[in-house]
Amino acid sequence: MQTLTLNNGVEMPALGLGVFQTPPDETRAAVTAALDLGYRHIDTAAAYGNEHEVGRAIRESAVPREEIFVETKIWISDYGYDETLHGFDKSAAKLRLEHIDLLILHQALPSEFDRTIAAYRALEKLLADGKVRAIGVSNFMVDHLTKLLDATTVVPAVNQLEIHPYFQQRAVLDFDDAHGILNQAWSPIGGITFYPGYGEHRRSVLEDPAVTRIAEAHGKSPAQVLLRWGLQQGRSVIPKSTKRHRIAENIDVFDFELTAGELAALDALETGRRGGPEPEAVTLADFGRAIPEA
Ligand SMILES: NC(=O)c1ccc[n+]([C@@H]2O[C@H](COP(=O)([O-])OP(=O)(O)OC[C@H]3O[C@@H](n4cnc5c(N)ncnc54)[C@H](OP(=O)(O)O)[C@@H]3O)[C@@H](O)[C@H]2O)c1
Repeated sequence: MQTLTLNNGVEMPALGLGVFQTPPDETRAAVTAALDLGYRHIDTAAAYGNEHEVGRAIRESAVPREEIFVETKIWISDYGYDETLHGFDKSAAKLRLEHIDLLILHQALPSEFDRTIAAYRALEKLLADGKVRAIGVSNFMVDHLTKLLDATTVVPAVNQLEIHPYFQQRAVLDFDDAHGILNQAWSPIGGITFYPGYGEHRRSVLEDPAVTRIAEAHGKSPAQVLLRWGLQQGRSVIPKSTKRHRIAENIDVFDFELTAGELAALDALETGRRGGPEPEAVTLADFGRAIPEA
């Protein structure tokens, strides 16, 4: 498995399994299959409600704990210094892990940025105490990152963002690159473009003729082409599937290379249309919900 070196020297497997919308009763089998198939990186979140099952699959696996990179996220309802420290305790207890490899803030809370800063300071404390190996953010835009960097000490190791050919967020990617923040793609195969909530422009990027043409040329699937597109541009990718054959397909991406022309053809698919929530509009009133105790 190809790895990426984070800005504090920690090595992270470039490709991991995402478990957003993986129901708790399917999570154990998905994570078990992934570990069996060679995955060594799992991306979950307090808000996904399946940390218990991720932890169980890891414990039951023959793969040693130290070979598995576990990433989880603090939800906005747990922002604030003490609240975020407790958020770590909840996640670690559900995962039944003593340390977490990468702990990130799931969203900025732009209307209450002080709470976001306090939450990040708690991550810095957890890092200093050795409870997490790296810290980062998710869905942070340039303005949020600028304010965060001004107010805190540790540069985030990772910014996890919606990144697929239809929505590439190049300004944020460039800012991250310039500051040593690794870009990690959520919906790397464009899941958000075909989820029911996408709206009137819903159209799977996996079915885009430019993608299927490149896939045919390489004898690979559209999903594999999109994962290569991310990996070859230095990003981490965390595709989600609950199906063993797709979990296998999604990691089978290290035996071919897209040409510069193919990368450019995929870059040209940008629509400017965000699928996920508008980061500036995330508020506790609209998105807050209690994360249960372990
Ligand atoms: N930080 C955030 O705000 C945020 C937001 C969204 C996601 N994420 C993270 O990013 C991960 C991935 O994003 P995502 O789940 O939105 O989307 P994704 O990984 O791009 O796509 C997942 C969708 O594609 C299907 N699929 C998987 N492999 C496939 C293949 N080889 N061919 C065709 N279809 C395939 C899956 O269905 P099946 O399961 O039925 O195979 C699922 O419907 C999440 O699981 C989560 O860990 C983070």
